[in-house]
Amino acid sequence: MLNCTLAHIIKAKGVCQVAKAMEGLRCPVSAFLFPVFCFVIFFLFFPFKQQNHVTLFLFSPSSLSSTIKHMHSHTNIISPSPSPSPSSSPSPSPLPLYLLSSNFTSANETCNNSTGLSSSTKKFPGLEKVEEGLARARASIQKSIRSRNYTSANTQSFVPKGSIYWNPHAFHQSHMEMVKRFKVWVYEEGEQPLVHDGPVNDIYAIEGQFMDEIDNFDKWSHFRTRHPEEAHVFFLPFSIANIVHYVYKPILKHSDYEPIRLQRLVEDYISVVADKYPYWNRSEGADHFLLSCHDWGPKVSYGNPKLFKSFIRVLCNANTSEGFIPNRDVSIPEVNLPKGKLGPPNLGQRPNDRTILAFFAGREHGEIRRILLNYWKGKDNDVQVHESLPKGTNYTKLMGESKFCLCPSGYEVASPRVVEALHAGCVPVLISSNYSPPFTDVLNWSKFSVEIPVEKIPEIKNILQSISRNRYLKLHMNVMRVRRHFMINRPAKSFDLMHMILHSIWLRRLNLRLIGSASS
Ligand SMILES: *[C@@H]1O[C@H](CO)[C@@H](O)[C@H](O)[C@H]1NC(C)=O
Ligand SMILES: *[C@@H]1O[C@H](CO)[C@@H](O)[C@H](O)[C@H]1NC(C)=O
Ligand SMILES: *[C@@H]1O[C@H](CO)[C@@H](O)[C@H](O)[C@H]1NC(C)=O
Ligand SMILES: *[C@@H]1O[C@H](CO)[C@@H](O)[C@H](O)[C@H]1NC(C)=O
Ligand SMILES: *[C@@H]1O[C@H](CO)[C@@H](O)[C@H](O)[C@H]1NC(C)=O
Ligand SMILES: *[C@@H]1O[C@H](CO)[C@@H](O)[C@H](O)[C@H]1NC(C)=O
Ligand SMILES: *[C@@H]1O[C@H](CO)[C@@H](O)[C@H](O)[C@H]1NC(C)=O
Ligand SMILES: *[C@@H]1O[C@H](CO)[C@@H](O)[C@H](O)[C@H]1NC(C)=O
Ligand SMILES: *[C@@H]1O[C@H](CO)[C@@H](O)[C@H](O)[C@H]1NC(C)=O
Repeated sequence: MLNCTLAHIIKAKGVCQVAKAMEGLRCPVSAFLFPVFCFVIFFLFFPFKQQNHVTLFLFSPSSLSSTIKHMHSHTNIISPSPSPSPSSSPSPSPLPLYLLSSNFTSANETCNNSTGLSSSTKKFPGLEKVEEGLARARASIQKSIRSRNYTSANTQSFVPKGSIYWNPHAFHQSHMEMVKRFKVWVYEEGEQPLVHDGPVNDIYAIEGQFMDEIDNFDKWSHFRTRHPEEAHVFFLPFSIANIVHYVYKPILKHSDYEPIRLQRLVEDYISVVADKYPYWNRSEGADHFLLSCHDWGPKVSYGNPKLFKSFIRVLCNANTSEGFIPNRDVSIPEVNLPKGKLGPPNLGQRPNDRTILAFFAGREHGEIRRILLNYWKGKDNDVQVHESLPKGTNYTKLMGESKFCLCPSGYEVASPRVVEALHAGCVPVLISSNYSPPFTDVLNWSKFSVEIPVEKIPEIKNILQSISRNRYLKLHMNVMRVRRHFMINRPAKSFDLMHMILHSIWLRRLNLRLIGSASS
């Protein structure tokens, strides 16, 4: 069923009525993009000649702690920035920007006469300016790392400080550059509710909230551009949750669940916009993104991996065993929003008043939860694990009374409990496999969370009890510090969740050069 929420109503009067009318449509797919099926054949012969030389700017160090397993596969190709910061560094020491590619060659040489790009400057008069701006942003980030200075004009605004950041100076400067320059073009094709709409409540709320914020000129007008030639990135405004909701019915047999319908919709959309506009072909999708919190998000690209090989998938379900690539894709938090609210009430107690060591309440969704419930449900007063909460108790209140909140993966790797825990001032305990947590480009998760591998579920109590009071207080303090990056505001505020998501996309664009003329 469809929720006509406040946000929907604010967004556009009448949208809900339209969406409600659409709800009856079983399969709007054919009506939606029927002329384009014939283009699918083109993809079989799609030329992939063009090369994008990607130089990754991430603020993370080469050897991340075990929290971030995914980075390990990349450590071998990390090399320090050519302009390292002075070596005798007081703590917290700023880390150099890392260029994640041993194949890094300066763009002036590499892109000079590659077939796709040789005529780019002529064909895309705006591109040179866009790339010049990015080059300036890169330079100013590098400079802030060298000088370890915050070049903030506005002293009232928030300034990231402390050890939760790999490099607070780089992040601060990068965020400022983003606010100053970043432009997103939203493709206008397609009809609600599959496109330009998404859920704004419950566990997939981030799909609709992001859409609402970005797909609207009045709110985030400075990030959205009306001119595609000045855009840094291009947004395909799909909601996978809505597609699954509206397209996947009726479900009569097992094969009705096949992801092919979803894949065709997105691939058809791409073929339409790649035909109508020059931007997809220009970069082979490397400056294009789609955002999804639904478990099926990763599946969009399975049908045609070649088409999506450079495409940025912004996902809650950041499962590195299911093709999530941390340096290309973006991991975002899952946020469970109650109706008409932007988060739970703040019922967090002070550390001394937190009487519960560890807390979890939730159903047996998936293997990890099964193990957790099997082992701990109703067994221990310190490690309180519930499948359903006893009457008269309050979930948010209990989180606020707990030191640690267990966040096991469910049907997808991400858990809304991470954000709930942070809101409640409770240290999140990640229990997952192959999970790439959000915003690891910027944040050192081991400063404000604990990771317990699935195999160690039986040892939860010992592990958490062995954390010293001092370390717990530090973790708690850092939770309070990092919270702002996981808060949703409407309209969005600097450094909040929406900005963090956008910043992750910005960083990936910063690592991409579409023409070689701009130096940095
Ligand atoms: C990058 O370099 C590695 C070895 O240094 C090589 O195996 C790989 O093919 C290169 N990739 C590209 C795209 O040139
Ligand atoms: C490319 O740029 C680098 C420095 O940015 C410079 O050393 C090199 O000579 C340039 N190469 C060409 C072919 O212009
Ligand atoms: C790149 O192209 C320019 C002009 O087309 C040319 O002058 C220059 O020599 C080329 N550089 C390389 C490395 O081929
Ligand atoms: C690049 O340019 C050089 C010199 O103009 C030319 O010999 C070479 O074939 C070109 N390479 C490609 C891939 O176009
Ligand atoms: C740091 O920034 C401040 C204000 O922008 C400036 O006055 C100061 O000289 C800078 N320091 C360094 C080391 O760049
Ligand atoms: C982009 O490439 C596709 C496949 O080669 C082609 O069908 C389409 O017309 C191209 N788009 C533009 C704008 O040239
Ligand atoms: C818990 O209590 C708070 C404050 O009384 C209330 O706002 C919230 O809705 C309650 N949560 C639940 C899940 O009942
Ligand atoms: C992550 O991906 C692997 C491989 O497909 C799968 O076995 C595992 O269940 C996934 N994790 C979750 C929590 O869905
Ligand atoms: C990240 O945090 C952990 C836990 O405090 C710490 O041991 C590690 O050194 C930090 N990493 C960096 C690069 O600061």
